[in-house]
Amino acid sequence: MITVALPKGRLMEETVELFNKKGLNIDIPSKSRKLFFYDKDKKYKFLIVRAQDVATYVEYNAACIGVVGLDVLREHNNNVFELLDLGIGYCKMVVAGKDEHCFSTKTKNIRVATKFVNIAKKHFIRKNINAEIVKLYGSIELAPLLGIADCIVDIVSTGQTLKDNGLKVIEEIFESTAMLIANKTSFYTHNKQIKELVDIIQ
Ligand code: PRP
Repeated sequence: MITVALPKGRLMEETVELFNKKGLNIDIPSKSRKLFFYDKDKKYKFLIVRAQDVATYVEYNAACIGVVGLDVLREHNNNVFELLDLGIGYCKMVVAGKDEHCFSTKTKNIRVATKFVNIAKKHFIRKNINAEIVKLYGSIELAPLLGIADCIVDIVSTGQTLKDNGLKVIEEIFESTAMLIANKTSFYTHNKQIKELVDIIQ
């Protein structure tokens, strides 16, 4: 049996749907508080973890395989193998603000609110712009409205949250989809089972 870490929330639903469509038989009761499940054939054990923790479970080999958004993977830079782009969970990492001049006319450091501190830092270093990063854990779109940041770095999926809060995309940084990742040791020790799962999903 191999262990697969799945990210709680929207992406887990899409992943289970995709895996079942490809022939696996997984049923995760939506009301359950249990954090691990097996498929009907008992070939896979699924761990339900926070999206930000998936790659950590995989890196430390608590899970052999994981499903994680490229956005989260790029932020944490875990030491894992990226096996397959699952083509689900599409979103874009963007810089957004009240208008296109929200930081370009600034003469001093700009302030950027984000959950993705490392991605934001790298992006503004690449652009040669001095940016002070304000780490927030959610509702990032409020930051420019309340004047605590000039812009945000965040993911956009439908675009509804930006629209509802009067913000616009200023720049796209990269596109993100969910990736199948593997522990670097398990990739070799459990190669047959991992390959079998990749072949099923592909
Ligand atoms: C994410 C992201 C945006 C929103 C984008 O937040 O940080 O706020 O989704 O989605 P949309 O383009 O479809 O509107 P999440 O829902 O994870 O909530 P959070 O703000 O609490 O992190």
